[in-house]
Amino acid sequence: MKSKLIIAIDGPAAAGKGTLARRLAHHFGLPHLDTGLLYRAVARRMLDEGADPADGAAAEATARALDPAETERNDLRTPEVDRAASLVAAEPRVRAALRAFQREFAAARGAVMDGRDIGTVIFPAAPVKLFVTARPEARAERRFRELAGRGIPADEEAVAAEIAERDAQDANRPVGPLRRAEDALLIDTTGLDPDQVFTAALEKIAARIASHA
Ligand code: DC
Repeated sequence: MKSKLIIAIDGPAAAGKGTLARRLAHHFGLPHLDTGLLYRAVARRMLDEGADPADGAAAEATARALDPAETERNDLRTPEVDRAASLVAAEPRVRAALRAFQREFAAARGAVMDGRDIGTVIFPAAPVKLFVTARPEARAERRFRELAGRGIPADEEAVAAEIAERDAQDANRPVGPLRRAEDALLIDTTGLDPDQVFTAALEKIAARIASHA
């Protein structure tokens, strides 16, 4: 089981998915893919080329030509890319273009993958699914601190508004919307630190794996 374990983690922005995914990947010795980086890399390339991220055909062409190495760029987490990535992620043709890469990523050794539709669309049969969320105020505060820590000036209210807007866009699109899979284990990270989130997740995962064994 361990060699092909797939842990699917979905949830809204700034809920703590990434930190948890990295720790779980390390713990289980699995590769980790932050699938948001794929959408961010498509958006970044379009912005660089002066293309309109809302242009579906151009976004699809960019997604099809994406080199996965582009997800390692260090300029993918800016507010400008946040907005553009949410737009390209709403385009069904972009989602279709990125699907095969995501599935192949886990084919050899399993994976921990985090995003919005991993447990619902990419790996609906994943044995372990987590839906990681937190109250909007907690998520806004976290994102604000993260931006401040990276020296990016931000206004806390504006950050909260942007997160709410992106959440709405991600949850209301017709294809691959953010939603909790019925069999996903719920983890609310409000008021928890990363260690507490990790411990809570491990307990739930152990129980789920035991019930599947
Ligand atoms: O998780 P993130 O903020 O890095 O994601 C960037 C954008 O991509 C965000 O608007 C949600 C979208 N996304 C998606 O639609 N599906 C995924 N599997 C991952 C991210």
